[in-house]
Amino acid sequence: MKRTLSLPGLAYGGDYNPEQWPEEVWAEDVRLMAEAGVNMVSVNIFSWALLEPAEGAYDFSRLDRILDMLYTHGIAADLATPTAAPPAWFFRAHPEALPVDRDGRRLSYGSRQTFCPSSPAYRAAALRIAGELGRRYADHPAVVMWHVHNEYGCHNAECHCDTSAEAFRRWLRTRYADDLAALNDAWGTTFWSQWYYDWDEIIPPRATGAVPNPTHQLDWRRFCSDELLSLCTAERDVLREAAPSTPATTNFMVMYNFDALDYWRWAPELDVVSNDHYLRSTDPESEIDIALSGDLVRSLAGGPWLLMEHSTGAVNWQHVNRAKGPGELRRNALAHVARGADGIAFFQWRAAKAGAEQWHSAMLPHAGTDSVIWRDVVQLGADLRALAEVRGSRGVAEVAVVWDWNAKWALELPSQPSEEVRQLDLVRSWYEPLWRAGIAVDFVRPGADLSAYRLVLAPSLYLVDDAGAENLTGFTERGGTLVVGFHSGAVDENCHVRLGGYPGAFREALGVRTDELFPLLPGETVGLEGGGTGSLWSERVRPTGAQVVSSYTDGPLTGVPALTRHGYGTGTAWYVATLPDPDTLTALLDRIRTEAGVTPVRVTPEGVEAALRRGRDADYLFLIDHRGKGAEVPVAADAVELLTGRPLTDGSVTVPPGGVAVVREPRSVLP
Ligand code: GLA
Repeated sequence: MKRTLSLPGLAYGGDYNPEQWPEEVWAEDVRLMAEAGVNMVSVNIFSWALLEPAEGAYDFSRLDRILDMLYTHGIAADLATPTAAPPAWFFRAHPEALPVDRDGRRLSYGSRQTFCPSSPAYRAAALRIAGELGRRYADHPAVVMWHVHNEYGCHNAECHCDTSAEAFRRWLRTRYADDLAALNDAWGTTFWSQWYYDWDEIIPPRATGAVPNPTHQLDWRRFCSDELLSLCTAERDVLREAAPSTPATTNFMVMYNFDALDYWRWAPELDVVSNDHYLRSTDPESEIDIALSGDLVRSLAGGPWLLMEHSTGAVNWQHVNRAKGPGELRRNALAHVARGADGIAFFQWRAAKAGAEQWHSAMLPHAGTDSVIWRDVVQLGADLRALAEVRGSRGVAEVAVVWDWNAKWALELPSQPSEEVRQLDLVRSWYEPLWRAGIAVDFVRPGADLSAYRLVLAPSLYLVDDAGAENLTGFTERGGTLVVGFHSGAVDENCHVRLGGYPGAFREALGVRTDELFPLLPGETVGLEGGGTGSLWSERVRPTGAQVVSSYTDGPLTGVPALTRHGYGTGTAWYVATLPDPDTLTALLDRIRTEAGVTPVRVTPEGVEAALRRGRDADYLFLIDHRGKGAEVPVAADAVELLTGRPLTDGSVTVPPGGVAVVREPRSVLP
């Protein structure tokens, strides 16, 4: 049973670290929080050293005062366990709890999240302080949620020490039911004399002379994700024991190529799914990254979720840290709400003057309240209050995109046909035309229930197990439209190539057979019949029932099919054997979705994002202008624009240049 976060409207706030400031400053904090409409803050995230000055000696007096103050001022606390930053005394007592990298270097303390996930001393110390905290604050009226740890795996997803090696072996014994022959078979250890005769011979994939075994590396990634998950659930359980009805969350990071954790396994373990999202300064269309991230998190949560962190302006950890342009803070935040966030929070409340993040933006900047960021923060608070009724409403999508961390890990191991092929890049390439067209999208794992969808896209699914492959092809057989990208279905869950021709698991459903892969060099393109080009990949596809939609017009594969379409059962399966240029991919996906009967949330001018949340009694249409030109967009009769409170009587809404409109419409508008 999932416990829910009970707040009257949408949550608004950020990480609040008052322990970094003299107490005189706190009064100003709560006064300004009220001015901005902040109703929930995450506290205590990195304060272990202050709470436990010496092993077993606790001092909760400051945290008592912080929580009491928040409660007095009507601000709820998302109370974190401080376990992402163990104190120096802990490492002096337990130097073996410091992590070791793959080159055998033991790291030092002095920053944060530098501990071995398998260390018994770390686990015991973390559970001890989590238990103390849980028991002390179980009934504190300010505490509405537990924030377990912080961004698991952010800096220490892997530890290669001997303790981790032992834990890895234990995990493997469970996975392979104590059968070493099964492991040898799964890992293909007859290759390069890697056969193991004793479990104790197995070590993490540490730095070695040549390429390590792929399945060894894949199982290691699975183990590392599970090992951190077991820390998370252990902390969650001690908190739950103390406060059985308080929901627990931990903040995920599903984007910017952070891929250490298999969040499909994590999400069901948490009452509330939260995510952190930051813009990459080099991404010219970060609004698409926000939408993709939000759709993925909503899908993991199976409903509303919380944006636990993003930034009001520049971060401090990129090569050049870009500030946000006019209106961007508001567009960014409301875009997360559009994708299902029931709360918006920032890292952090008050900009630090000291420490490693002193140049990171915050809700209250170094400049104080006479600043653009502060005015935007206050405006956003008002916006979120105006949107209170969208809380609990959900996404509705007819299109699913298959996303799988195992497939990503396996695809991105060394010694592939091309190291240029990256799962997130491919998913983003396919997602972009859908985003531009206002098509709502969910993300699914290969074995998910697909009955709600008309169209399923698998841009990059290198690894798939038999059950997942059958689920996807079965969807087509029963009338759905499936689109498969190149190099999908290539290997099984043990990274073994599916023999007999590519794309192994999908050959029959796609009605094609490939006998050789021809990856393209960076910058190289091949012509496509109909005028476009393909890049990144090509392969010698032979139709075995599929109809050829487009073939290569030059290069060694001239005349060979690049895009195919196959009637399979009562459905249709498409194969995309290259990465078509954006216009060609857009035209292709437009055609496919039109044939599949998928309609946009709303047709809007270029650059105006449309997303929809469906409530019990109404639909909420979010329109966000990212091009600064503004737009008039048709809406239903009896609609209301919620940010202004204005009834829309003439059948359309004005989206101001660079602005946002959120329209409540009767539910009947969409099928
Ligand atoms: C992460 C962390 C925060 C902070 C921000 C800075 O998301 O969780 O503590 O370091 O990055 O962007």
